[in-house]
Amino acid sequence: ATNRTFTMIKPDAVAEGNSGAIIKIIEEAGFRIVAIKKTLLTPERAGEFYAVHAERPFYADLCGYMSSGPIIPMILEKENAVADFRALIGATDPSKAAEGTIRKQFAKSVQANAIHGSDSDENAAIEGFFFFAGVEQF
Ligand code: CMP
Repeated sequence: ATNRTFTMIKPDAVAEGNSGAIIKIIEEAGFRIVAIKKTLLTPERAGEFYAVHAERPFYADLCGYMSSGPIIPMILEKENAVADFRALIGATDPSKAAEGTIRKQFAKSVQANAIHGSDSDENAAIEGFFFFAGVEQF
């Protein structure tokens, strides 16, 4: 069925001027942009977004990194969106990401890995509403 996922182009990729190239790959893969903006997270708000990782050793660093510069959050729509988008972006660790994936092309490290993709339909909805009101989702 057609459904939605949530993504953010992360600070490293935005800062390096890779957002246009990444959005082009996403659209060419058949995803429709439902919502998009450029914004900056505070460390507190990054912490809220990544609350599920609060006990991980990389959590404080992750919150610092995700608030270090502007990000581009988006809601995307496509048949089988969550799984297909995770295939398009590749593994979290770019050294393990498959050839042709967004992370293989643009990620710098496990942390600065260029892009986020929701891991379930439920989280896609939660994460989408973290950034966009219902009236901003077309
Ligand atoms: P993402 O999967 O989008 O959301 C969780 C983020 O935490 C992940 O991308 C990375 O940016 C970061 N992350 C995950 N694992 C590690 C790790 N082992 N070391 C540092 N950062 C990590």
